[in-house]
Amino acid sequence: MSEKSCPVSGSGGGRCPVDARGGRMGSRGCSFMSGAQSGDLRTAFNIPPDVDPGQFLRQRERKAINEVLYSNIPTMDVIKEKQNTHGQKSLDMSLNVSEQDLLAIALGAPARQVILRAEEVGPQTGWRDGYLSAEHGFTPPDVDAPAGALAKSPGRVWSDLCERMPGCVARGRVRESVAALPVVPGTPDVIPDKALWAALVSLAKHNGSEGVSVSSRAPATIVEMSDDLGDELKGIPKSIGLPYYQISKRMGRSLPHMTFYDQADYNIKHRDPTSTYPYIGRFDNTEVRWPMFGDSSEKAFMKGCADTSASFQHGPDAIASCQEHVMSKDNDALLRDLINLKEILERMPNAFHTISLNPSSGENYVSPTEWVRWAKWSTPLSKRTPAMSGLQFPAFLVVDAFLGRKKYESFLGVEGVHLRAWAPSNWRAFMSSIENYYRVPEYVAQSGDPRLMGALDGIVEAYTGERGFMGTHRYKVFGMLEVAGKTGRTETNGASGATDAARPWEATHQEFSQAMQERLEPFRGSLGIEPHEMRGSFWECRYKSRVLSRAFVDSDPNRSIASVILDIQDTGITFQPGDRLAIMPLNSWMECAKVAAALGLDTMLDHPVDLDKQWTRFAAHLGSVSRTPTPHLTVKDILRRGHLSPLTEDLVMKLHNMLRASSNTVLQVLATEEWPVRASLGDVLQASVAEVSSHIWDQAFDLTGNFSWLAELIPIEVPRTYSISNYPEELLPSTVDLTISRSDYKLCSTFSGSSTIIRHGVSSNFLNPVVDSEDEFIADDDELLIGVSRPLSFQLPIDDAAPCMMFAGGSGVAPFRSFWQARAGSVGRNMLFLGVQSREKFCYEHELRQYVNSGYMEVYTAFSRDSRGLAYDRRLNDLVEKETSPRYIDALILEQGGQVCDMVMSKKQGGFGGYLYVCGSLSVFDSVMSGIRKAIYNHRTTSMESSDEILNVAFAERRFMLDVFMTPRPLPCNDPTIPLSQLAMHTGHEGSKLWIGVHGSVYDVTDFCPMHPGGTNIIKSNAGVDCSKTFDLLGHTNNPEVSSLLNKYFIGKLSPKPNFHHSEEISMLYDLWSDYLRTSVETLVAHQFEVQEFMGSSNLWFQGSMLNMGGVRRFYHHQSRLLQSGFSFLYGPKLQELYLKLSFTLANSATNSNPSHLPDVLGIISRAKCSPDAMATSNEVSQIGQFTADSEAARFHERGIINYAKTSVKLNMELLQGIREEACRGMDVFDTVMDLDAPSETQRCYYLSAFLINVIERIAIRLEGFYAKLAEHSIYTPEIEQNPARSRWNLVRRKIRDGSFFVLTQDVALSTSGPKSPRRGQTSVEFDQVISQIQQNINNAPRPAPAALDLTEIHVARGRAPQKGGMSAYETSQSGAAVKNMSAFLNSNLRSIRRLSKMPTSSVSIEQLMNTYGQPNKHHQFQVTLPTPPLSRSPSRSPSLNGDAGSRMNIRGRGRSSSSSSLTQQPPLRQRSNSNLPSPPMSASAALPNMLSKMNRRQKPGSVPPSPARIPEDTMMPLLSRRATHSSMVSAAGAGNLHKRGPSMTGSLRGFLLQENRVSPTF
Ligand SMILES: Cc1cc2nc3c(=O)[nH]c(=O)nc-3n(C[C@H](O)[C@H](O)[C@H](O)COP(=O)(O)OP(=O)(O)OC[C@H]3O[C@@H](n4cnc5c(N)ncnc54)[C@H](O)[C@@H]3O)c2cc1C
Ligand code: HEM
Ligand code: HEM
Repeated sequence: MSEKSCPVSGSGGGRCPVDARGGRMGSRGCSFMSGAQSGDLRTAFNIPPDVDPGQFLRQRERKAINEVLYSNIPTMDVIKEKQNTHGQKSLDMSLNVSEQDLLAIALGAPARQVILRAEEVGPQTGWRDGYLSAEHGFTPPDVDAPAGALAKSPGRVWSDLCERMPGCVARGRVRESVAALPVVPGTPDVIPDKALWAALVSLAKHNGSEGVSVSSRAPATIVEMSDDLGDELKGIPKSIGLPYYQISKRMGRSLPHMTFYDQADYNIKHRDPTSTYPYIGRFDNTEVRWPMFGDSSEKAFMKGCADTSASFQHGPDAIASCQEHVMSKDNDALLRDLINLKEILERMPNAFHTISLNPSSGENYVSPTEWVRWAKWSTPLSKRTPAMSGLQFPAFLVVDAFLGRKKYESFLGVEGVHLRAWAPSNWRAFMSSIENYYRVPEYVAQSGDPRLMGALDGIVEAYTGERGFMGTHRYKVFGMLEVAGKTGRTETNGASGATDAARPWEATHQEFSQAMQERLEPFRGSLGIEPHEMRGSFWECRYKSRVLSRAFVDSDPNRSIASVILDIQDTGITFQPGDRLAIMPLNSWMECAKVAAALGLDTMLDHPVDLDKQWTRFAAHLGSVSRTPTPHLTVKDILRRGHLSPLTEDLVMKLHNMLRASSNTVLQVLATEEWPVRASLGDVLQASVAEVSSHIWDQAFDLTGNFSWLAELIPIEVPRTYSISNYPEELLPSTVDLTISRSDYKLCSTFSGSSTIIRHGVSSNFLNPVVDSEDEFIADDDELLIGVSRPLSFQLPIDDAAPCMMFAGGSGVAPFRSFWQARAGSVGRNMLFLGVQSREKFCYEHELRQYVNSGYMEVYTAFSRDSRGLAYDRRLNDLVEKETSPRYIDALILEQGGQVCDMVMSKKQGGFGGYLYVCGSLSVFDSVMSGIRKAIYNHRTTSMESSDEILNVAFAERRFMLDVFMTPRPLPCNDPTIPLSQLAMHTGHEGSKLWIGVHGSVYDVTDFCPMHPGGTNIIKSNAGVDCSKTFDLLGHTNNPEVSSLLNKYFIGKLSPKPNFHHSEEISMLYDLWSDYLRTSVETLVAHQFEVQEFMGSSNLWFQGSMLNMGGVRRFYHHQSRLLQSGFSFLYGPKLQELYLKLSFTLANSATNSNPSHLPDVLGIISRAKCSPDAMATSNEVSQIGQFTADSEAARFHERGIINYAKTSVKLNMELLQGIREEACRGMDVFDTVMDLDAPSETQRCYYLSAFLINVIERIAIRLEGFYAKLAEHSIYTPEIEQNPARSRWNLVRRKIRDGSFFVLTQDVALSTSGPKSPRRGQTSVEFDQVISQIQQNINNAPRPAPAALDLTEIHVARGRAPQKGGMSAYETSQSGAAVKNMSAFLNSNLRSIRRLSKMPTSSVSIEQLMNTYGQPNKHHQFQVTLPTPPLSRSPSRSPSLNGDAGSRMNIRGRGRSSSSSSLTQQPPLRQRSNSNLPSPPMSASAALPNMLSKMNRRQKPGSVPPSPARIPEDTMMPLLSRRATHSSMVSAAGAGNLHKRGPSMTGSLRGFLLQENRVSPTF
């Protein structure tokens, strides 16, 4: 502005725009300047007499500026009111901004200024201070520009190498290729500024390490290193080190280091630069420019990360705008931009949908085991530089700053602060500008505007809520790390979870929780609750609402389905199609009245109640939602908001205890066959009040105190979920529509007697009460707590041209109404398949017809009880009447089969790649799925299996989504139980079903697995074990969607831990053994995973016709880890701990007639590990390791390597399966041990330990057999190679080179297995020897690494240090825990151990005992050392081997029928095969009684010491394979063969249950 221009209007030339004559007035030419105004100022400007005119006019000017710059000047009425109430001074204060604000307004918002400055300078400096612009956010305006500039410079050599990198990795020639690079300096004269980012990315990618440290060999050629350039570049060739150093300096990085955004955001290309909706850098529109490995795992992960940053493209602009609106106090504009920011943040978790853990998801699949490679590869170059971390992506630090995060104390918090210091200057300036000036959250809080507060709350939720980005990331990471952790992953990139924790992924999960809580704290205070505990609880409902209206949606006069409209005016809530509403239901007044009347509370409804922890939290939550102090909750609140029906076991038990077992009704309820019982608390109390003496009643329900018993008795209700049924176009919708189907159930017969009484669900009846009922006439003035949640996978496609097919049954049409409203006018087709009972129940018919007539929808209908059909007429765009036989939705799907198939099939399969959605009850879901399966079979495939595969791909590609909204149904509680061992056999591979155990129930999720929104692998990695903890941590336990789906797959209750009648020893052994069983299952499952991945992919083994070192490397890593650690999981400290405790028990219970000789389990294991066979196998594997760094030599052994890999994994699997089977066998014994007729507790314990130790011995012997078998194989098999002569010649050449030619002339084979020497040493030891062996092992156990001093030191240590003996962090921590337990055990039992070890050798040994009472076998090569474990496992454990043995045992019946047949079919192995296994297998359930019955008849002991056990391979292998066959038979038996309690037990089941609950039955 020139000096002469007008300061108000800006007009130049010294003319005043308001002076009509165009005169020049005043000292600076303005007619408004007071100094130049002639005449009576006071009159002219209405200046009050007591005010200085000059001051008045200056104030007035300031106000004028306000008017120009601040848009929310209050209305005159408000001004006057303020003037009257607070006086003129206050008014002036509020209307006049401070000097600083004025200056800021004149200059513009700080955040905007930072963006403008960055935009100005960036293009000239190659954006070296960090990309930042209004249009592109933190992403480059042109992703190709830097790479293009680099290609035109001499630095092209780096990008050329990047292009060759995946090939070099596949050939194992990374080091060589890097060494061959010429030195090109990174100075400005050589590398222009415009190429800086590309130069950095390309150099950081091959800094000399290929990320997998397969060999420490230096490159063949001598190259100059960059050791003089600092710690970071030591050992890196100068050709990379020098320019890397120079470019880093030019970029403002004080030390060279690689960041996550280098690798992801700045290493992508756009497929179609014109495809910008909703943002250009979407996963489907990008390619990784320079991949390192080139596999889908790398690409999907990198693109997924880049997608997140790209989705935040407009975030910085929205944030700057918010700041501008705060400065100008423009609330409406602020609301707009807050909602804009919220929508941006809500898009961010999209990336997680693209990073899939489902192998069928094609280019989206990220293999957790491959993800492991990042750990090594992204290691910081030195301890001075930061490691790669998700927190390096600027969006997160920026949103933290925007939301005013105060606490950075957690591991990730510290990391965030640390990383922020390394961020480019533009980003740091931007963060500072929003953190220090015009802070939005503070403004919103002060504004008192509920819309702003609601919108900001939505931002907090979208960013760091349980269902927001951080919550979703947390669950996703858990799934990924759990699988990776069990398959060898050490730690995470940022070393989180690298603690001593038992399960590192759980530790990381905890760290995420802490970071989330720190972020939430400014808004929610200190919650003291983990994010996953919020799922399915009142925490999800953060807004208040009320019912506005209810309407009919069909012609059903009962209105069993209604449209219910809720008021959300001014709440700040926004939602998308597919979103759901969580509602905290209120109990009907009738139910409240029943309780109140029975308890005598009817006149005390408004009395405050002393709350327990949960209700206290709820009260605080209510206060926080209402933005008021925490309210006092009254009796009425508890009754209205508490859980009154249906009756849960917990609720009834509490009542039972309070009434001191004096209510018969309560006892009748407790004797139920299923929980929960379909009745209400009011029903029970009403019935009981007449039964229980008033004395007890009054004591139980004390009306004189603080009513704390009421809060303890009645828990808080859980929210119900409803699909949102409308999609308004407004910025802030004022209503939300739901489609509520009233649920009905029959009142339980205890209360209804012989008549049928229909009751309605709590929430559905509250929202859609029976027409003309009392409930309907009660005014809707209740405040409801609600919340919006976005399902992980039930969303419309981003691309509106994608076709959608919807399948709905009854009220399942609910979410689709929002779909059709949102998709009206879309390019893609919209098809709805609707199944309803009759024409009267056709919901939203009128509205739908309008959409059909407009050509927006195609609607196909099936009426199950009506022949008045409707047919969609494409030509007329209408639904026309057509007589059709009643049918279900599956028939309709079959009728339209061709169309359905095209939609299901992906584009690659020749289909349309449509999006399919199913919504409705479970039966609808089943019917739809069966219809689609059959349709695919009829039209496209020849088998149902192939149909399933097509469907699975659609699920994996997230094109097939479910919204199954059944209510969890009651589950039977006296069905047969399933023992742990049977669960363990169902791991989903080799034809077995996939079972999981959750909170005492077992589910067969084989069919569900491919549909799982979280991916198949994470379910598979929990197969065969109790995964309750995982369920809790993932928020699955309380997730209504999960619980309703899970119900469908329930197959029985898991056998609980037996009651060992206070025998702590047996109980302790049970825990240890079940833990070992779990470990054996987890190891087997993890092994299966890895093997499937690297053996199942031919691309991994071959690139065209050339051997790909990728496959060789994967196999090498896998096998060497197993061998190095000697299957440490199963043969390490965990087994030793078991062995120690069993030995102790045996020695402790040894009497003169009992033996003290124990099998030398540890000796067998260590001899096996050091045996020549073991040496031979590790030599073989290390040879393969050599190949991974020298693919030249590998090609001569191509087929040999592949064959060897196949054999190895087969043998590994056999070993692992064998161990699992043994562990199951041991587990079964615990179920029957208490039934034994043992003379004393000690004796019982002795029998049990004797049996188990024998099982352990068998496990140990299997290791020997494994090595022996593996040693028979070699990669050196010239005869199968394409060119045998060359293979032989290559070997000779190598041997000459390494000097071993002489040896070679003696023995041509590579294999060093040598002649098999017989196993030496004893097979039995004394207790003292066990102790000394264990002590030695404890001393030799690897010590946990000393705590690192700081963050980077942890990163570096993790990256550089070799894995401890090839063990994963999980294994290390598990083993560490076992070692600790053993030390603790030894210390605490020192005295007894001393006593026992001094004990004179017993004249009787177990072996002798067995020889007498066991099954003497004269032909045996070695003596059986301990009692005999059973022959084989049977799922329905039989009580006895034969009538004779059984008759002597006092056995609780367990499926007697099948066992005897299994025995007769399979004679004891020992007799069959002269096995060297210490004891023959027999029917699991029969074995223990059989064994022990024999032991009871113990006679004269022999005195032959055991001879060394040796299993000839030819005996062992057939044995093992026969076992494998048997085990698959066992698993195939399936749920039909469940373990049932015998009649005597079931007869007294009620008594049993009551006893378990410590209740004395009174009738
Ligand atoms: C993803 C999803 C979407 C749904 N969408 C709709 C819809 O659009 N329209 C519709 O009518 N219904 C829908 N439902 C069903 C709805 O959530 C309720 O289950 C149903 O209304 C019955 O609740 P109620 O209180 O009336 O039944 P009750 O008989 O009182 O509930 C029985 C018991 O089941 C448990 N329970 C019931 N529902 C839930 C739940 N959601 N979460 C946790 N526990 C529960 C409660 O503990 C309760 O004690 C949906 C369910 C899910 C999971
Ligand atoms: C499934 C893929 C992913 C896995 C397995 C994963 C893993 C991890 C892990 C282990 C951490 C802890 C820090 C560490 O030790 O390094 C972490 C942190 C983080 N990751 Fe990811 N991540 C994934 C995807 C993403 C994506 C796509 C983004 C988005 C760019 C992202 C952003 C973050 C952020 C911001 C943090 C810090 C969290 C906090 O401060 O609370 N992650 N991630
Ligand atoms: C066995 C162990 C299981 C594990 C480890 C597991 C893990 C996960 C994970 C990590 C997610 C989040 C995925 C993501 O963010 O991409 C998820 C989502 C989900 N899982 Fe599982 N899951 C398991 C079993 C099940 C079972 C048995 C069911 C139902 C029968 C189920 C139903 C769901 C549903 C419905 C979702 C989506 C939740 C949502 O929308 O928020 N899961 N699961």
